Amino acid sequence: MEAVLITGASAGIGDAFARQLAAEGYNLVLAARRLPALQRLGEELAASFNIEVVALECDLASPDAVSRLIHDLDTRAIRLVGLINNAGFGDRGPFKDLPLPRQMNMIQVNVNALVALTWQVLPQLSTARDAFIINVASTAAFQAGPNMAIYYATKAFVLSFSEALHEELRGQGIRVSALCPGATRTEFAEQANMSGTRLFKAGAMQPGDVVRQALEHRRRAIVVTGWRNRLLIWLGKFSPRLVTRRIAAWLQA
Ligand SMILES: NC(=O)c1ccc[n+]([C@@H]2O[C@H](COP(=O)([O-])OP(=O)(O)OC[C@H]3O[C@@H](n4cnc5c(N)ncnc54)[C@H](OP(=O)(O)O)[C@@H]3O)[C@@H](O)[C@H]2O)c1
Repeated sequence: MEAVLITGASAGIGDAFARQLAAEGYNLVLAARRLPALQRLGEELAASFNIEVVALECDLASPDAVSRLIHDLDTRAIRLVGLINNAGFGDRGPFKDLPLPRQMNMIQVNVNALVALTWQVLPQLSTARDAFIINVASTAAFQAGPNMAIYYATKAFVLSFSEALHEELRGQGIRVSALCPGATRTEFAEQANMSGTRLFKAGAMQPGDVVRQALEHRRRAIVVTGWRNRLLIWLGKFSPRLVTRRIAAWLQA
């Protein structure tokens, strides 16, 4: 079967991707740690849209998770036509105070797993018609983030990597897009200890709206969701880095 793989599909933006891609008629492979949530979503979407959905439990913080995921796909003879690298998390606090293992896991999930999965599936995507990769970065990718140093750095990596890959694969039938949402109403803020920050108090987008824009503009190298976020990123281009990093620090103090 041909399908789109979505990592982190058990909640938030990944869940919204699953719903909207199901409505487009794609078969889906849903991956995350919470298998029951994936199975519930899969059953609902399979029944509503007459598609096939496979739920795979996987912890992307584990270094062999990607090879096991690829093995699972091979065993089931699933050929990917799309990849949504969405799984990720953040944590707020000074670098020196946050536990090192959690910060290393963040790099593993947000960066290493994303790179490994992309590399592993590129050969099959290159044989598909109109294949696509959407890597979920963030507006955090555009400046340094004091008090979330590692999270911002991982997202800067995702943006830079995706933009370069977009260019490398242009004209080869694979569209690569970096999705850059700002604050979005999901489980992310609570997981990252950010719920009470100015950033989230100022308002957050709904995940369904973020994904609608991502899919509508999936041919673009970079998709920043929401006019307020686009304005902030645009203004950031004319501001010294000292200013943008101080604003980021203030927003998440
Ligand atoms: N919400 C925001 O404000 C915001 C803004 C910009 C960018 N983003 C990015 O958007 C992406 C999705 O986040 P979200 O907002 O939808 O947050 P969320 O509701 O917390 O969802 C995160 C998803 O990632 C999965 N995940 C986390 N750690 C994992 C691991 N070790 N292995 C496998 N899956 C894992 C979670 O599944 P399990 O817990 O079941 O494993 C969950 O499905 C992330 O990359 C995040 O950085 C979010």
